[in-house]
Amino acid sequence: MKFRTRAIHVGNDPDPQTGAVVTPIHLASTFIQPGAGEWGKFDYSRSGNPTRTAVQETLASLEGGCGALAFSSGMAATHCATMLLSAGDHVLAGMDIYGGSYRLFHNICKSAGIQVSLVDLQSPDALSAQVRPNTKMLWLEGIGNPRLTVPDLPRLTDIAHANELLVGVDNTFATPVLLRPLEFGVDVVMHSATKYLAGHSDCLAGVLAVAEPKLLNRLYYIQNATGAVLSPFDSYLLARGLKTLDLRVREQSRSAQRIAEFLEGHGQVRSVIYPGLASHPDHERAKQLLDGGFGGMITFEANGDYERTKRIVKSTKLFGLAVSLGAVESLIEQPASMSHASYDAAARAKAGISDSLIRLSVGLEDVDDLIEDLTQALSH
Ligand SMILES: Cc1ncc(COP(=O)(O)O)c(C=O)c1O
Repeated sequence: MKFRTRAIHVGNDPDPQTGAVVTPIHLASTFIQPGAGEWGKFDYSRSGNPTRTAVQETLASLEGGCGALAFSSGMAATHCATMLLSAGDHVLAGMDIYGGSYRLFHNICKSAGIQVSLVDLQSPDALSAQVRPNTKMLWLEGIGNPRLTVPDLPRLTDIAHANELLVGVDNTFATPVLLRPLEFGVDVVMHSATKYLAGHSDCLAGVLAVAEPKLLNRLYYIQNATGAVLSPFDSYLLARGLKTLDLRVREQSRSAQRIAEFLEGHGQVRSVIYPGLASHPDHERAKQLLDGGFGGMITFEANGDYERTKRIVKSTKLFGLAVSLGAVESLIEQPASMSHASYDAAARAKAGISDSLIRLSVGLEDVDDLIEDLTQALSH
C-alpha cells in the first residue's frame, strides 16, 4: 500500500465488536486479567493502551519502522532517546536544532553527566574530527530549525555509524511525507507530533520510531519506566490527523514555494531561506532527499532592525503570532525572542539566528490571501 493509503488503513481496522470505522478511545486505565500472574494483551494504560497501540502501528508504517512509541510531547520523546545514554557519554548535536532540544541537551542532560557539543553538519567531514572516545550519539534535524538546512543524512549516518554512534533524527519539519530517515539507516526518528502529524493545533504529542526491535524494546522499557505516554484522547487526535498528513504537507509545500518566491522578489526583504529556492545552499540536496516537496516552513529577513521585525510579526492578520508550526492555520514568529530564546546569545549568533529573522509556518489558507497578508505586514 502507498503512503496515503497506509495513513488511513494501517492501525485503523474496523472495531471487531461494533464495526466502527474509527478506533474507539479506550479510556480505561486498567484491564481485567485472565488470572493472577496471567497477562492479557493490555494490563495497565501506561504500559499499553489499545488507542495508543493503534496509532503507534500507523506511525511505524509511515516511518517504515518495526515499531513506534507515542509520548505526551515531543520533548518527552527526545528525553526518552537521551536516556539511552549514561553519565560520562558525549552527544554531538547539529547547530540547527529546536531551542527546546538545545535546552534539554545543555541543561538537563548535562546535569545527568552527559556532555554535549554542537557541530556544524554542513561539512560532514568535520563530524569525524569532533567524535571523542566517549561520543555515543549524533542528534540532528532532517530539515533544520530555523535556518532550514537539509543535512546530508545518508553520508552523516554512514560517518556516525563508522564511529559507532547512534543516530537520532528529529523529523518534525520534514515529516515522513517528505523524508523517511530510517530508509537511510538512521537509528531513531523523533517527532514533535504536536506539529504536522497531528496538524490542527489541538494536541501535544511526541513520537519515536525505530527499525530495530532490540532498540524498540529498550525505548519501550524506558518509556514505561518513566511514564510520559500519550493519552487515549490525544492518541485519537493524532490518528485522525495522520489520515490527512500527506494531503496537508503537499499542499503546504506548494503554498510555501509560492510564498518563498513572492518574498524573494519583495523589495523590503533582505533574504529568504527556503529549501525549494535555487538560492538555498542545500537546494540540490533537498531535491534528492525530499520526496516531491520542500515543506511548509520559510525563514526570511526583512530590511530593518529588531524593532521593525517585531512590528512586522505583530502586523499580520492571518498569520498568527505564535510559536509552534505545522497546523492548518498559518503562524509567524521571531526565533531570536521566541522559539530559540533558549539558545545563549553566542550560540544563536553562531547558528545564524539574527534578531531580524522571521519564521513562517504556512497553513492551508488560500495562498493568495496569505500573500496579501504578508504584503500589508511588510508595509509597516
Ligand atoms: C523541531 C522540534 N522538535 C521538537 C519540539 C518539541 O516538541 P513538543 O513541543 O511537542 O514537546 C518542537 C516544538 O516546537 C520542534 O519544533
